[in-house]
Amino acid sequence: MRDGLQRPLRDLRVSVTDRCNMRCTYCMPCEVFGRDFVFLRRAELLSFEEITRVARQCVAMGVRKIRLSGGEPLLRHHVERLVEMLAGLLDVEGKPIELTMTSNGVLLAKRARALKEAGLTRLNISLDALDNAVFQRMNGGRAAVASVLEGIDAAQAAGLTPLKVNAVIRRGVNEREILPLVEHFRHTGIMLRFIEYMDVGVTNGWRLDEVVTAQETLAQIDAEYPLQPIAPRYPGEVAKRWKFVDGGGEIGVIASVTQAFCHECSRLRLSVDGKLFTCLFAAQGDDLRGLLRSGEDEAANDEALRQRVIATWKRRTDRYSQLRLVRTEMPREKIEMSYIGG
Ligand code: GTP
Ligand code: 5AD
Ligand code: SF4
Ligand code: SF4
Repeated sequence: MRDGLQRPLRDLRVSVTDRCNMRCTYCMPCEVFGRDFVFLRRAELLSFEEITRVARQCVAMGVRKIRLSGGEPLLRHHVERLVEMLAGLLDVEGKPIELTMTSNGVLLAKRARALKEAGLTRLNISLDALDNAVFQRMNGGRAAVASVLEGIDAAQAAGLTPLKVNAVIRRGVNEREILPLVEHFRHTGIMLRFIEYMDVGVTNGWRLDEVVTAQETLAQIDAEYPLQPIAPRYPGEVAKRWKFVDGGGEIGVIASVTQAFCHECSRLRLSVDGKLFTCLFAAQGDDLRGLLRSGEDEAANDEALRQRVIATWKRRTDRYSQLRLVRTEMPREKIEMSYIGG
C-alpha cells in the first residue's frame, strides 16, 4: 500500500497519554502546561482494546514497527498490559512486529523488567544534558540526571536493546553538553542521537536561530573523536549514523530541520484520543474513535476501520519539513507533540 507520494506504510506511533512528569521547554513549557492546563479525560482516551484493534489493522496493511510514546508513556496506568496485547501481533510476513517505546526514563528503573517481560523489544530514552543544572533548566526542574541514568541502566540490564538516547540541542542552552554526552555514552553500546530542535506545535516559541544543526554538532564531535558515516540500519531511518574511527561505537543525528527526510517517511500516528495523523506537523487528524465506539458487530466495524486506514494512507501527500526548507510562511495551526506522540 503506497501513499500519494509512493511511500509505503511501515511504522505506527501511538501516543498513550498526553501527560508528562517533565516540562521540557521545547515540548511542554510550564507557562502553557501549568496547573490550569486541561488534559484529556480518561473516557476520551482510547482503551487498550481500541488501540490494539487499530494496530491490528495497520499491521495487516504493512506496519512492522509500533512505537508507544506520549507525553510520558509510563504514566499511562498498566501500560505493560498494552505492551502484552500488542506484542502478540504478527506482521504481513508472519514475523513478530518490533515493539518499542520512547520514554523520558524517570520511571524506568522500576518498570524496565516488567516491560521486557511483557514483550517490549527495545527503548529510546531522552536525555538532553549530563549537567544537572542544565538538564533541570530544560525540563522545568522536574527530574534529575541521576534518575534518568538509573533508568538507562535498568533498561540495559533488562535487555531492552539496542538502547538509544535522544538529546535535543538548543542553541544557548545545552550545546556545551554535546561532548560530555558523547564521552559518557562512548563504549557503552548505547547509541546517542542528537536531534535538531523542531518547530512542532505552537507553544515552544521555536526560532530557527536556536537550531544547532546536525552539521555543527558533527563538526564539534569529529574534532575530538573522528567520525565516519555508516549505512542506515533500515530504509527510512530518521537518524543518520556515524561511527567513531577509534572503535568507540556509534552516534546518530536527526536533522529534521536542515535535511528533511519526508521522501522516506513511512509513519502513521495515532493520537491519545484516537485520531490518525499522517504527519507530525499536521493540523488535523482522521477520527477513528467514533467509528471504534459505534455499532454492535465488531467484525463489520473492523472492516470499516481497515477501509479508513487505507483511505487515510492513500490520500496522504504530507512533506512538511521538506516544504519548510523552501518556504518562509508555514501554517500556524499545528498539534502539540505530547498529544500526537512525537
Ligand atoms: P528508531 O529509529 O526506531 O529508534 O526510532 P525513531 O528515531 O523514529 O523514534 P524516536 O521516538 O526516538 O524519535 C526521535 C526523534 O525523531 C524525535 O524528535 C521525533 O520527533 C523525530 N521523528 C521521528 N519521526 C519523525 C518524523 O516522521 N518526522 C519528523 N519531522 N521527526 C520525526
Ligand atoms: N524538537 C525536537 N525533538 C523534540 N522532542 C520533543 N520535542 C521536540 C522538539 N521540539 C523529542 C524528545 C524525545 C522525542 C520523542 O522527541 O526529546 O526524545
Ligand atoms: Fe515530556 Fe518528552 Fe515532552 Fe519532555 S519531550 S515534556 S519528557 S513528552
Ligand atoms: Fe513525515 Fe511529516 Fe516528518 Fe516529513 S515532516 S518526515 S512527512 S512526519
